[in-house]
Amino acid sequence: MRKQIAAANWKMNLTINEAETLLYTILDANLEVSENQKVVFAVPAPYLTLAAKKVTDHSNVFIAAQNIYSKKSGAFTGEVSVTMLKSIGVDHAVIGHSERREYFNESNEFLREKVKLCLEENIVPIFCCGEALPVREVNQQNQFVQTQLEESLFDLSADEIQQVVIAYEPIWAIGTGKTATSEQAQEMHAHIRSQLAAKYGEAIANNISILYGGSVKASNAKEIFGKPDVDGGLVGGASLVADEFVAIIKALK
Ligand code: G3P
Repeated sequence: MRKQIAAANWKMNLTINEAETLLYTILDANLEVSENQKVVFAVPAPYLTLAAKKVTDHSNVFIAAQNIYSKKSGAFTGEVSVTMLKSIGVDHAVIGHSERREYFNESNEFLREKVKLCLEENIVPIFCCGEALPVREVNQQNQFVQTQLEESLFDLSADEIQQVVIAYEPIWAIGTGKTATSEQAQEMHAHIRSQLAAKYGEAIANNISILYGGSVKASNAKEIFGKPDVDGGLVGGASLVADEFVAIIKALK
């Protein structure tokens, strides 16, 4: 069975002391993360070294970067490369979060390069996709997300695509408290999986984890994660509260 994943996206919300305290509090909460589950913390770039050290003795717990640059090295002031991440033991990276697509104009083509760099360094890309409210209001979300997949992922080989985690995050649900219903999440996840199956075959499609993100809370995680094509969540606000995120981890299948 494909991995069930609870991923925290702490965005730009913590000081170093807050991040350290939060990480330890969650890790010390007697988490029982089974072989078929993963807990991932996408921490702010300045804290990656700290976080990578602190999770080394916790099985099935991983650190993710929230972004990488589209080149491995060079004169790109302020950027973080996959090579740097690999050198400090970080093995996951969130790619194409809607906030980066919006604020930094990251196109599907640009993100395709980032995904490839992750795979070259054996870093698991958590590839974000999802539509804005105007797209949903005219019922074009399936086609919109399909285009994101086609333009950023579908030139990958069958082996490469199996290394990718996909996170469906409807933009209208991010940070709004307006969570997609579990039926809406399941419908889109099933569509994503059907597109993967059409391109790579059923067996590969059924082995790819597809996470839901957008106002996941301890109160709704069980219902959303219980849907057949939902394999966990990418969690923002609720992951900043230890008890909330521990409860969300426990909601994993
Ligand atoms: O990457 C996860 C994030 O975008 C979701 O945010 O606060 O709606 O859980 P939030």
